[in-house]
Amino acid sequence: MRFLLIFGVALGGLLSACAQRQPGVLHPYDYTIEKHITAKKGAVVSAHPLASQAGVLVLQQGGNAVDAAIATQLALAVVYPGAGNIGGGGFLVAHLRDGRNIAIDYRETAPAKASRDMYLDSAGNPITRLSLDGHLASGIPGTVAGLFASMKYAKLPFSKLIAPAIQLAEKGFVITEKEAESLNHTREEFLRLNTMPTAFVKDAPWKAGDTLVQPDLAHTLKLIRDKGKAGFYEGETADKIVAEMQRGHGIITHEDLKNYKAVERKAITFQYKGQTIVTMPLPSSGGVCLQQMMMMVENYPIGSWGFQSPQAMQLMIEAERRAYADRAAFLGDPDFVKVPVDKLVNKSYIRERMAGYVPLKAGNSDSTKAGLARESEQTTHLSVMDADGNAVAVTTTLNGHYGSRTVAGKAGFLLNNEMDDFSVKPGVPNMYGLIGTTANAIAPGKRMLSSMTPTIVLKNNKPIYSLGTPGGSTIITSVFQTLMNTLEFGLSPEEAVNKPKFHHQWLPDVVYVEPDFPEAGIQALEQMGYKIEKRGFIGRTELIKKDTKTGQLQAAADKRGDDGAAGY
Ligand code: GLY
Repeated sequence: MRFLLIFGVALGGLLSACAQRQPGVLHPYDYTIEKHITAKKGAVVSAHPLASQAGVLVLQQGGNAVDAAIATQLALAVVYPGAGNIGGGGFLVAHLRDGRNIAIDYRETAPAKASRDMYLDSAGNPITRLSLDGHLASGIPGTVAGLFASMKYAKLPFSKLIAPAIQLAEKGFVITEKEAESLNHTREEFLRLNTMPTAFVKDAPWKAGDTLVQPDLAHTLKLIRDKGKAGFYEGETADKIVAEMQRGHGIITHEDLKNYKAVERKAITFQYKGQTIVTMPLPSSGGVCLQQMMMMVENYPIGSWGFQSPQAMQLMIEAERRAYADRAAFLGDPDFVKVPVDKLVNKSYIRERMAGYVPLKAGNSDSTKAGLARESEQTTHLSVMDADGNAVAVTTTLNGHYGSRTVAGKAGFLLNNEMDDFSVKPGVPNMYGLIGTTANAIAPGKRMLSSMTPTIVLKNNKPIYSLGTPGGSTIITSVFQTLMNTLEFGLSPEEAVNKPKFHHQWLPDVVYVEPDFPEAGIQALEQMGYKIEKRGFIGRTELIKKDTKTGQLQAAADKRGDDGAAGY
């Protein structure tokens, strides 16, 4: 599907702009959204067409998939301020052409002055506003350190990779209707939670076709280009972050910033019916839970039951229930707590875990303490494949939409509200309704547990899929469903991404379904005893499939947003 965005300019002007369109450069004032493309050499899919195009430009300049992933992330920090970021954190999973699988962890950390009970009042009750809004909600940003840790696997100089982002911030880009609505919707929070004027608020409401220019962000990006990691974690940018903290009663210090380190971890790899799944280890719960769920369904003929058949949905829901219960009980930052990962993915443990599974009958989460799942799930994902056989999946986040909604004054970027991903108080649900225990309690320097699940699928040690999604607690079940949609039910990339999704997370004991979920499926689940709740759309999955015979790439961008695919 191809959308032409007409940004309130006269059609004649648009046509003449198109006539002058130059290949090999970004066109931030008259771009189109491509939802599904096929490409011979390289493809990028992300939450914004300009960011995907920035990635493809880098591939065309001789970069590999890691170069493109770096450029796309930087461009997303400009054109998708709701979740793209340099003030947040993320995870990169890649399969390299030489056969190596890598996982880079640039999750935010709790500041040195953070403490276990920092979001509790004197009676021990959580003040959740504090872990969500403004200065105290931010962990130490990890993204810039992650980009430089990724440079080890890139080919081009960093200055080339950051150039599109600088152009987009300095000269601006035209916003879509969805972006205008989103900025208008958040206007009051921007005003309330900032100590200085920001580029995201103007006198008149935003409308489609307006140009968003971010000069402060452009300046920060140039500092990063010229000084590397130190351009963010030290000097002028660090001074601005710390000054912002002091104005808004935050606790991030110069030492916190200087001490931040991205960590390279061992990617989780496991077999699923002849394919190798490569995914993110702790401190994301995504990989462990995905492995558990896939192991739980693997011994059933789920493919022959069919896509969204009552049997298949029920088995998947029961797998989800069990994995999320284990997530709550055991998972946390492995540098701080001992997590029995080997046991959790052990075959006999998985068999025991499924012992109580009764086909076509709803299970029970055995608890009345239900959390409230909230809507805001604004992480973002990008997938890249190149002509050399490299595949990259990156999920990155500010946590909520526009994170803490606080911009580091005069530095032009939004700070995350990732501290809410800690278990603020054991047993009390976070913004996604997720419950944790002491394994995910706050401690200085600790990484908060994540659900981000950037994933690559290999066949004969060659990448065939790169995928992932935002969606808070729904990330893992969306990746699980998308994998089942492709590997078991044979859906096309477009269908696998866009078909309505369901989600269960142990507590609350409810199956959430998207607004367009088929009524027949809902009735079948209700008859088995499930409580169903309709909710907003789930995730924005980005997927690339490689045909190993022809080498052709198919990239599918989720229908649920302005997501766009690009390739060449
Ligand atoms: N902030 C969402 C996640 O990391 O899972």
